[in-house]
Amino acid sequence: MRAIRCNQYGPPDSLTLEDSPDLVPGPGQVVIDVKAAAVNFPDVLIIENKYQMKPPLPFTPGAELAGVVRAAGEGVKLAPGTRVVAYVGTGAFAEQALADASACVALPEGADFATAAAFTLAYGTSHHAVVDRAGLRAGETMLVLGAAGGVGLAAVEIGKVLGARVIAAASSEEKLEVCRRFGADATINYSTEDLRERIKALTDGKGPDVIYDPVGGEYAEPAFRSIGWRGRYLVVGFANGEIPRLPLNLALLKGASLVGVFWGDFARREPQRNAAAFAQMMGWIGEGKLKPYVSKRYRLADTAQALKDMASRKVTGKIVIEP
Ligand SMILES: NC(=O)c1ccc[n+]([C@@H]2O[C@H](COP(=O)([O-])OP(=O)(O)OC[C@H]3O[C@@H](n4cnc5c(N)ncnc54)[C@H](OP(=O)(O)O)[C@@H]3O)[C@@H](O)[C@H]2O)c1
Repeated sequence: MRAIRCNQYGPPDSLTLEDSPDLVPGPGQVVIDVKAAAVNFPDVLIIENKYQMKPPLPFTPGAELAGVVRAAGEGVKLAPGTRVVAYVGTGAFAEQALADASACVALPEGADFATAAAFTLAYGTSHHAVVDRAGLRAGETMLVLGAAGGVGLAAVEIGKVLGARVIAAASSEEKLEVCRRFGADATINYSTEDLRERIKALTDGKGPDVIYDPVGGEYAEPAFRSIGWRGRYLVVGFANGEIPRLPLNLALLKGASLVGVFWGDFARREPQRNAAAFAQMMGWIGEGKLKPYVSKRYRLADTAQALKDMASRKVTGKIVIEP
């Protein structure tokens, strides 16, 4: 089978596509024939050794996938041929991947592999952030930075399901058009418009109740300065590369909260609440209220290009590798 390998830390072009022996499941594990694996920003960071999780070298990147069970290890009830979605952390950018059977969820008949692969991390993160950590309520206003990206667009959709007014901020008209299609009520192009002035104008000077920030860098401070009374500022990620520093008096002046979001640890520490979040979202999908957007599909051999597109802000919604 073929797999993308990271033999040394470095940029996407240092990844290699290699042939390796078929995988064999251990007790409690399955081997999955990967049909689609989603690309997430942490994949870009992990291969450069810039992420909190540091798998030992060499490894195959790729955190989540959908596919068909090929072989099941001792004590596993999932039969070969079962269509599943799985969160694996690493190992998804390959023709075969190893997963704990407990990390696999059977896919409903007819579910599209690419859409299923692209769901768990983005929507898990944004549900935990917006519902659980921010407690966003109907009638409130949420500003989403990097709103056309993977977690950003999921936050836009979840905000609309909850009955909030959603302001989407992104770096191009094309990206903002995607945000409007997915429900954003108003938009800000932060490469051409003054972020603070536009937030003020769009909220009658009151500021948003919730700010969802997966970008960091230069946008964080002007956004936090604009937050409303009792606002909740969600610290989700730093795609801009720079971890911002914020003067804490700003929190005092607005009675505002800085709220950290770490979905991976939430899912590990509070699995029942995480399962309840996914059950709620499955209901929303069934009602047609969430429509995960896969904007582009790449061959396994083009994985480095997919990661470069993500690192250079070229991606909207989710992108997937189809081995
Ligand atoms: N806390 C958690 O539990 C958790 C979970 C998953 C992901 N994350 C983090 O959330 C962030 C977004 O992840 P994602 O998978 O949604 O990524 P993504 O699809 O690439 O979205 C990131 C967005 O950030 C913006 N951006 C601004 N400056 C950028 C730069 N220099 N390079 C790349 N993008 C830039 C881009 O939008 P514009 O061009 O419109 O600015 C882009 O759409 C990452 O930092 C990731 O590590 C956190």
